Amino acid sequence: MSRILTGIQSTGIPHLGNILGAVKPAIELANNPSHESFLFIADLHSLTTVRDARILRENTYSVAAAWLAFGLDASKTVFYRQSDVTEVCELTWILSCFTPYPMLANAHSFKDKSNRLSDVNTGLFVYPVLMAADIILYDADFVPVGKDQQQHLEITRDIANSFNRNYGDIFVVPKAIINEQVMVVPGTDGQKMSKSYNNTIDIFLPDKELRKSIMKIVTDATPVEQPKDPDKCNIFKIFRLVADEIEIELMRKNYILGGYGYGQAKEALFQVILEKFKKEREQYNHYMNNKNELEIKLKEGAAKAGALAVKKLKLVREKLGYIN
Ligand code: ADP
Ligand code: TRP
Repeated sequence: MSRILTGIQSTGIPHLGNILGAVKPAIELANNPSHESFLFIADLHSLTTVRDARILRENTYSVAAAWLAFGLDASKTVFYRQSDVTEVCELTWILSCFTPYPMLANAHSFKDKSNRLSDVNTGLFVYPVLMAADIILYDADFVPVGKDQQQHLEITRDIANSFNRNYGDIFVVPKAIINEQVMVVPGTDGQKMSKSYNNTIDIFLPDKELRKSIMKIVTDATPVEQPKDPDKCNIFKIFRLVADEIEIELMRKNYILGGYGYGQAKEALFQVILEKFKKEREQYNHYMNNKNELEIKLKEGAAKAGALAVKKLKLVREKLGYIN
């Protein structure tokens, strides 16, 4: 059976864009029994930017809580925290010695920041090697990632091949699965929803704050009584991604008829989010209030992943000439 593996950045509470664009499709893939799946929270990668222990820890919990709330089945997927399986760090060092310097210097993740080199730590430079170790430590066959990670997968393949040329076929050379038609969820200002643009709708916030973020959605100044074009409106564009067919058609009609204000549309969006994500919001809060449950699941995942990691690393060490 083929093995699918992917890592999730732990950069904070997942917003509506993360949920619809990444979490839901990945869970569908993970829950599909036709392959084995590994999913981990890349909290070692986070250390390249996060400098606060509490934030680092909370981010991991909130990502784990969100994935579980949206239906990730931790008994079917090996779900773990990267930093719990420290073998990956040893493998990163080993793989670094098989990684040509120019390959990393050409990585977009580093190159994009190379005009401000004083801000770049070596962790950020070595980031793709840690990612390669994440993947090949577990003999992953397929790695679903966004287009922005494609180059990191090419680097991973190059590193695995380089190692295999020296020591025999030790590593599986993974293939990327790039979803070309990724959904782009617009933010409250109409640009792509992103933490870095401060335009997110955080569906896990308490009602009052969630409502506030929806009320921030930018619209034009068409008066209430006039007809409006739903397809040009940020509220409708988001509503369409959450509501069901009948609700969408009803809102479309209301826009076209006139006498329907943006305030009402925002309220409808708020209500539909509360209703559609009721169960997930409750589950998320449950996990965030019972972190011991998250810990148990993550540790169980780490035990499964760790057993494979130890075995693989042993083989690698042996091939390299180290004594186990
Ligand atoms: P952000 O831009 O908020 O920092 P990340 O870069 O951490 O989000 O993205 C995490 C995952 O969520 C990625 O797989 C990314 O493709 C997906 N994602 C982020 N924003 C959106 C969006 N607006 N629409 C669809 N998917 C998104
Ligand atoms: N770098 C990936 C991202 O930014 C996260 C990640 C870390 C990852 N290790 C991985 C993804 C291994 C796939 C496989 O989204």
